[in-house]
Amino acid sequence: MRNDFEKAMHFRHACKIFDNTKSISDEDLSFILEAGRLSPSSFGVEHWHFFVIENPSIKEEIQKVAWNQAQITTSSKLIAIVYKKKVRSTDSYIQSEFDKFEYPQMLRDMYTNWIDIRDDKALYSWSAKQVYIAGANMMTAAASIGIDSCPMEGFDKDSVEKLMGLDTAEYGLALLIPFGYRLNPQPSLHRSDLKEMVSYIN
Ligand SMILES: Cc1cc2nc3c(=O)[nH]c(=O)nc-3n(C[C@H](O)[C@H](O)[C@H](O)COP(=O)(O)O)c2cc1C
Repeated sequence: MRNDFEKAMHFRHACKIFDNTKSISDEDLSFILEAGRLSPSSFGVEHWHFFVIENPSIKEEIQKVAWNQAQITTSSKLIAIVYKKKVRSTDSYIQSEFDKFEYPQMLRDMYTNWIDIRDDKALYSWSAKQVYIAGANMMTAAASIGIDSCPMEGFDKDSVEKLMGLDTAEYGLALLIPFGYRLNPQPSLHRSDLKEMVSYIN
């Protein structure tokens, strides 16, 4: 297990171009999506949605507003992870999540006092952050079965939301992750030493 995880972590890199002759199977796509589904979210409210963009002409249009990055059109599956915007405790989606988990009143009050006081901008930023956890898990899951990916923020949000036909009253786009099979060999990983980024408080 430990070895498998380590292998996946070393296999994953921000792949810049995929082999567009290779497709991800439905079974592998489900495996990747499942890793997103099982990811943790604050209060467990799962305020994300995964769009799988397969349409080649939409991908072409998205690439044009994403710094012309070739990952978009060469990917087998382009996943756009969006965050839900209506996440105040009075919103029906949150009420149904509370009910689903049978949250006691104390937790509902905690949520209300912590979330409802935020303005829209702060709320969206809190929601968008959750997406990155799901995205990271999806990329590691993909790597564990030999599938490459690239996390992407390099795009014009409004334009991509329009191209997706996203209902922006409900959703905001946080992250694009193209998945596929690498065309070129993996470059070496550049990472600082652990001792430079870890401190212990004893
Ligand atoms: C939130 C986020 C956004 C990123 N956006 C892009 C992007 O738009 N295009 C790209 O090629 N790489 C993007 N990257 C990839 C990083 O540049 C890459 O992960 C980093 O340089 C380390 O390289 P590695 O992942 O290959 O180890 C992004 C990474 C993250 C975490």
